[in-house]
Amino acid sequence: MPRNLAAVVLAAGQGTRMKSDLPKVLHPVAGKPMLSHVVQAARALDAAPIVPVIGHGADLVRTTLEGEKLIFALQAEQLGTGHALQCAEASLQDFAGDLLLLCGDVPLLRDTTLRALLAHHRKSSAAVSILTAQMADPTGYGRIIRGSDGVERIVEEKDASSAERQVSEINTGIYIFSAPEAFDFLRQLDNSNAQGEYYLTDIVAAARQAGQRVEALLVENAEEAMGINDRVQLAQAGEIMRQRINETHQRAGVTLIDPATAYIDPEVAIGADTLIHPGVHLRGKTTIGSGCEIEPGVIVTDCTIGDGVHLKPGCVMSESIIGDACAVGPMAHLRPGTVLTGHNKIGNFVETKKAVFGEKSQASHLTYIGDATLGKNVNIGCGTITCNYDGVNKYQTTIEDDVFVGSDTQFVAPVTIGRGSLIGAGSTITKDVPADALAITRSEQKNIAGWAERNRQKQKKK
Ligand code: UD1
Ligand code: CA
Repeated sequence: MPRNLAAVVLAAGQGTRMKSDLPKVLHPVAGKPMLSHVVQAARALDAAPIVPVIGHGADLVRTTLEGEKLIFALQAEQLGTGHALQCAEASLQDFAGDLLLLCGDVPLLRDTTLRALLAHHRKSSAAVSILTAQMADPTGYGRIIRGSDGVERIVEEKDASSAERQVSEINTGIYIFSAPEAFDFLRQLDNSNAQGEYYLTDIVAAARQAGQRVEALLVENAEEAMGINDRVQLAQAGEIMRQRINETHQRAGVTLIDPATAYIDPEVAIGADTLIHPGVHLRGKTTIGSGCEIEPGVIVTDCTIGDGVHLKPGCVMSESIIGDACAVGPMAHLRPGTVLTGHNKIGNFVETKKAVFGEKSQASHLTYIGDATLGKNVNIGCGTITCNYDGVNKYQTTIEDDVFVGSDTQFVAPVTIGRGSLIGAGSTITKDVPADALAITRSEQKNIAGWAERNRQKQKKK
């Protein structure tokens, strides 16, 4: 029978060095809270349940990770990492198997590394398996003290002798324990150390005293074990995470002109032969088709974009759907609920919101289209505005197929423009327009002969 696997994620600490009101584990790395990255690694191993131990900012952590199917344990007072794991015991009452212990502030750990640690733990029948790393500068970390027969103990920097401080193999803070035995060892811990805390690391000596094996597995890439303590490390982790994400897209056929300035969130999908210029941000659950071009300064959040779409510089778009072969921008603002069905053109300084454009309809310049449904082949002239809001309520504008809207038109909603009609430039449309009609609301033009010349003469005399 396969052994069970559960995970505990330590995430109760304050993260003092972040100097932040936001709990440390909620700070985003590549657009996603670090704790979510850690949870995702545990989930990739099918760990169940996953128990984050929370304390500082517990309510905010709980609500931010709502929907991730987690069992939260509370550590009201942060008495040390050993005490933190004890707080998870009640959530794992009926659990027997392997217990993966992760830290909420170590977001770069790969699931492949955790799999290797788990395989090692199972093969060696150890009670405790520690993931360790070789650090050129081990300052601040717990050191791994090996004896003739495996790992003997872990000593914290503050408790270490100068000889022990020379050891460059460090404790990453990631372990696998056999449970429920681990909780028995925890009960033997005390806080007689330099920091007056219950150290989880002391579980090693406790297991050894009980005659159990303790194993250590060296992580291949020490970078993965990087813990985030301040905003310098936060930026470094972000850079590493983005590089991983970007390389995945590059290998799948996406061209990034300058990967260092492509900011792509972990859940974004991009089709092959899409070209991404510098300074592009693709956020949230965005999907982009193949053969697209995304020019500098474009920010896309939670959008679905088809194939062959051209996003010109400076576009900002969120919660919108863009069909195939559309061209948008430069400097267009597509707000939530925009749907471009396909082959649409949205030009410079156009803002849309809750607006559906039928196929091949276009708004090429300086326009606001909100709460509107447009049919096919509609041409919206420069400076058109849907007046959708009277200060209290929002109203709909409907424009049917093949309508031509002259420049500088205002549609005072609610209003419906019948198919094939034409709106004269400069009109303020307050009533429905029947199909195939011309609607025009301009007052008639008067030309007064010679008036300008006479006026100039008058000015000169003054
Ligand atoms: C810990 C290890 C050290 C290891 C290092 C790796 C101990 C005693 N030391 O040190 O050997 O090299 O991690 O990064 O375990 N936490 C709680 N509740 C607490 C205390 C901490 O949830 O009461 C959480 C923190 O939020 C953090 C994690 O545990 O996510 C590690 O705690 P931290 O204080 O950063 O441990 P270190 O001193 O770095
Ligand atoms: Ca500490």
